[in-house]
Amino acid sequence: MNKFCKALSVVLVNALVCASFQLAAQPTSELGKQTFNTCSVCHLPTGEGVPGSFPTLRKVTLVAEQEGGKEYLMSVVLQGLSGQIKSNGATYFGYMQGFAASFTDKQVAAVLNYVLTDLAEEKLQKEDVISESDVAIVRNKIKEGHWPKSSVLRKNLAMP
Ligand code: HEC
Repeated sequence: MNKFCKALSVVLVNALVCASFQLAAQPTSELGKQTFNTCSVCHLPTGEGVPGSFPTLRKVTLVAEQEGGKEYLMSVVLQGLSGQIKSNGATYFGYMQGFAASFTDKQVAAVLNYVLTDLAEEKLQKEDVISESDVAIVRNKIKEGHWPKSSVLRKNLAMP
């Protein structure tokens, strides 16, 4: 290897190390905001949705505060939701895909926490947020087939 190549490879390795370090050091809320770019295509950047097509996410605190509410939200992001629902006075007969294959546990927790602590009308306290290990538990149960469909979980909740 000549001098130039050696110097170049050192620079490249440094760049790689820096890039991965930055990713690891990224605050969770930034990760949540970034991950939400996937959701905002439908639910809009504000999370307010489009009445009749995409339900609002701004009322989810009311869901998260109920028994089984956080599990429902994790389930929607991991395995999706389909069938008729009523939300905020409108009826939806939509389909949302699950993101289990595209998001890590950390991303699922971060995106839901971003919705709950930044976008929601009534913001959740930071200490009540969803953890990465909460997501891992739900993901495993889904994988093992011990988890109901999101639409079934939704029926047990009082929805806005
Ligand atoms: C391609 C459009 C689309 C994308 C992308 C999408 N959603 Fe949805 N989402 C929907 C639709 C449609 C529904 C309602 C499904 C139904 O009618 O059964 C829904 C429902 C939901 C619900 C349940 C709301 C309720 O009232 O029960 C939550 C929570 C949710 N989405 C969160 C997210 C999050 C978080 C993301 C990003 C990771 C996301 N969605 C990405 C279309 C989308």
